[in-house]
Amino acid sequence: MDTLQLDFLGDLQRTHTCGELRAADAGKRVVLMGWVHRRRDLGGVYFVHLRDRYGVTQLVFHLDGDAEVHRKAEMLGPEYVVAAGGIVEQRSPETVNPNIPTGEVDVIVDKLWILNEARTPPFPMEEHVDVKEDVRLKYRYVDLRRPHMQRNIVLRSQVTKVIRDVLCEQGFLEIETPFMTKSTPEGARDFLVPCRVQPGLFYALPQSPQIFKQILMVSGYDKYFQIVRCFRDEDLRADRQYEFTQIDLEMSFPQQERIFEVIEPLMKTVCEVAGHRAPATPFPRLTYAEAMRSYGTDKPDLRLPPFYCVEDLFEGHGLTGAALPLVAIHLPNVGQLSRKERDELKAFGQERGLRVYDDAKRLDRDYAEPMAKVRERAGAGENDLLMLAGWPGEPKGQRPDLTVLQACGQLRLLSGQKYNDRHKLLDPEDFRFLWVVDFPMFEWDQEENRWMAAHHPFTSVKDEDLELLTTDPAHCRARSYDIVLNGTELGSGSIRIHRRDVQAKVFAALGLSDDEANRKFGYLLEALEYGAPPHGGIALGLDRLMALMCGESSIREVIPFPKTARGTDLMSDSPSPVPERALRELGIRLAHNPKE
Ligand code: AMO
Repeated sequence: MDTLQLDFLGDLQRTHTCGELRAADAGKRVVLMGWVHRRRDLGGVYFVHLRDRYGVTQLVFHLDGDAEVHRKAEMLGPEYVVAAGGIVEQRSPETVNPNIPTGEVDVIVDKLWILNEARTPPFPMEEHVDVKEDVRLKYRYVDLRRPHMQRNIVLRSQVTKVIRDVLCEQGFLEIETPFMTKSTPEGARDFLVPCRVQPGLFYALPQSPQIFKQILMVSGYDKYFQIVRCFRDEDLRADRQYEFTQIDLEMSFPQQERIFEVIEPLMKTVCEVAGHRAPATPFPRLTYAEAMRSYGTDKPDLRLPPFYCVEDLFEGHGLTGAALPLVAIHLPNVGQLSRKERDELKAFGQERGLRVYDDAKRLDRDYAEPMAKVRERAGAGENDLLMLAGWPGEPKGQRPDLTVLQACGQLRLLSGQKYNDRHKLLDPEDFRFLWVVDFPMFEWDQEENRWMAAHHPFTSVKDEDLELLTTDPAHCRARSYDIVLNGTELGSGSIRIHRRDVQAKVFAALGLSDDEANRKFGYLLEALEYGAPPHGGIALGLDRLMALMCGESSIREVIPFPKTARGTDLMSDSPSPVPERALRELGIRLAHNPKE
């Protein structure tokens, strides 16, 4: 076997990409560059599929061609990087490959440059290969070459561009805000950055640009946006990363509807760019209270039918604790469940404190009259799944009704997901956006035994609920809204507090002393005193949006270099220890040595 001599690129240029050539190009002299996808040897004639991100073109090396070129072609291995010069030839009709856009032509190669060799890749470059995610992440540069990842990354770039275009056309300004800053109030832990020249002091990476975008409104930049990285130290899941990207915007003098008018056409355009049917606008709206009473969640998946509260039909029957919801869960065309399936649902409900009445026939027999009304309310037919779920014991907590509804919501979702494979209840091509509005201002924090801001502490209270701030925080509603798509919270926003006095009241309701408020957010509070206009905005998670547009169940599939659930970047092997000297310079001494 000859030793491989690599060629230089020199001033050689490609004339076409590997996805470009068609029958009309027959006869042209071309130069293609790319990766060897596959090489076949048919009696000494080599057929090489050359791949780049645009496609695959077949190169042919005939036996009677240049002997040196043929010799080099023999040495090609998978993923070698080559440049090939030759003449485009139209294939005979019987040899056309209808599966690829370049399938009508071959390039008959008479010049070959081997630009680089490659180790055998850890997994093949095919569309569907069964590889462990850890291996994919370690060899991400190879993984990102696969057509499926290339499609996701290319689409992400196109979507990002169109978002910029649409917002800029509407007069939004893209303005950067600092990454090294002070803690921002989104409720997660901060990533801290030590400051060498001021040992013992730290910056925090921003959990969002929230405070800066509000300050930009004070400064008169009335329409701001940024496609921006945010950092949160929280448990990682399929839809959460430490660093993720927000489409962040803020406007001066807006009503809530004005924000919706910006976002709805934007989502329509994104769907179109991603090759999906554009959703109808305006998107449906549900108040938080309605969402909870119909879906048991503040991020309902509208592809599944709502559930129905039916406690009014069963008054005095003792099926549920006093004044608590009794819920009828209804799934169309699911048919009868097996004993085993019913037991699974029952156990799932029980784990969450519910009593599940899964035997519809028995319910019909024992409660004929109310059940007839339940069927009517839910529009349930003969072949549908219908079950009741309620809370057997005494109410617990600040909002026991919400606890019950949430548990029922999880049961509804599990039932829907469980039977989806069999009955296609959830169509990934069906994009059902909605707005959830009028969130509660506060959530009760069981651990800290105090009210916390449900969104963030700069959110306004609904004008008519201002009184409730002090008298009944549990029922005080905020001017905040979420955009939800198929059961995923895509984004959140609110109309902000722009008056110093109102902000002080909210801090007081949150149990934040003046001192603490000043230490944490003093610069915003001061800015509010220098002519802050009414303002509001929203931030959408770009990673979550892209995962949905690409039909992926994890945002890791749309992020080029994501971290594992333990927060590790397997490719670069970070986080990693730092030299003792670097720590000393920062004035840091470790309490524990990192495991090697
Ligand atoms: P919020 O905290 O709700 O609001 O975040 C907005 C959106 O960002 C996305 N998101 C995430 N995506 C991936 N990984 C994460 N760890 C993660 N955390 C959040 C979600 C979420 O809906 N400043 C406010 C917005 C505003 O009021 O304008 C904010 O950050 O899609």
